[in-house]
Amino acid sequence: MGSSFGTVFRTTTFGESHGAGVGAVVDGCPAGISISLTEIQAQLERRRPGQSRLTTPRQEGDEVEILSGVEAGLSLGTPIGLLVRNLNQKPGDYRQMANIPRPSHADYSYRMKYGVNSLSGGGRASARETLARVAAGSVAEQFLRSRFGVEIIAWVSQVGEVTFELPEAELEQLSRSAVDAAAVRCPDPDKAALMTAAIEKAAAEKDSLGGVISCVCRKVPAGWGEPVFDKLDALLAQAMISIPAAKGFMLGSGFAGAAMSGSRHNDRFLKDGDRLTTATNFSGGVQGGISNGQLINFKVAFKPVPTIGKVQETVDYEGNQVLLKGKGRHDPCVLPRAVPIVEAMAALTLADLALRQRGNSLF
Ligand SMILES: Cc1cc2nc3c(=O)[nH]c(=O)nc-3n(C[C@H](O)[C@H](O)[C@H](O)COP(=O)(O)O)c2cc1C
Repeated sequence: MGSSFGTVFRTTTFGESHGAGVGAVVDGCPAGISISLTEIQAQLERRRPGQSRLTTPRQEGDEVEILSGVEAGLSLGTPIGLLVRNLNQKPGDYRQMANIPRPSHADYSYRMKYGVNSLSGGGRASARETLARVAAGSVAEQFLRSRFGVEIIAWVSQVGEVTFELPEAELEQLSRSAVDAAAVRCPDPDKAALMTAAIEKAAAEKDSLGGVISCVCRKVPAGWGEPVFDKLDALLAQAMISIPAAKGFMLGSGFAGAAMSGSRHNDRFLKDGDRLTTATNFSGGVQGGISNGQLINFKVAFKPVPTIGKVQETVDYEGNQVLLKGKGRHDPCVLPRAVPIVEAMAALTLADLALRQRGNSLF
């Protein structure tokens, strides 16, 4: 249970980090959508470890195969099977941990739940699972873009204590190439340099850092979201918080709105041709759980990576004091690699709600 996301556009991911492979089955993608394998692979490259000196040097090929559901570049309307075979299995890196639950990782809670642990570096809790989301999310994104013109762009807006706020006026123009100009995936060169330095310092100290990813979804039509439990913002929050190490979600003004007065916070309506727009967008493009046609913008906070090279005092499963030193090849900061994961989860959420809205409008 718990490995599927979406109701009509439904994605199931499978695979352990050091098993034979990781993949996804995407059921419910409409027929006749142009699906590019190259585009799926390009998003996987942005998630892949070893892509820059800021990420773990662990090399994983991450070559995706489409097993079913797409022929001659077009979706058939049948389940789309996506598979990435694992080539870089090093369960030995994790053997030391077999009897020691890593602090703030998922070893202890997985053992309490299942009674057994995957000896393969986190099993389903490993971020390797997220490559399946990125592959499926690219399919969703290709559907959303071709049918509705939707664009989804995420970027790193905080690493440790270094923050970057993209001016609102630039939300309409920001591109993935501007985000990717720096390996840290912050579109501001000065802040990118500070973030890079912070990650390098943490890595040198065998420590790790967290941060924040911001995301904007453009050209989402008004009307997507299913009150009352499957509101667009509620499903986005679920989607984002399901990403490993994601600990906070906020839409629009988020927690800052709590300190504002209604007269300042209300997004006053304006006439815009034959429809309405709003003068401000503190709502983040969602009102009553339904998109209102404005930019959807949100932030996701990530905690520092739990596995660190620094020695940590902890206890093993029997309660004996141990000094744990993270072995293996871990990220000092997951933020740059998590950008395509946030985009993928946004695309999976929106694709599902787009199809659910089509069901509503039959009546
Ligand atoms: C892209 C990405 C890469 C990650 N890499 C590592 C890693 O190398 N080592 C590690 O301990 N945790 C890593 N994590 C975080 C763990 O997967 C996560 O902390 C763990 O599953 C426990 O889940 P929780 O933090 O959500 O409670 C990564 C997360 C993401 C999104």
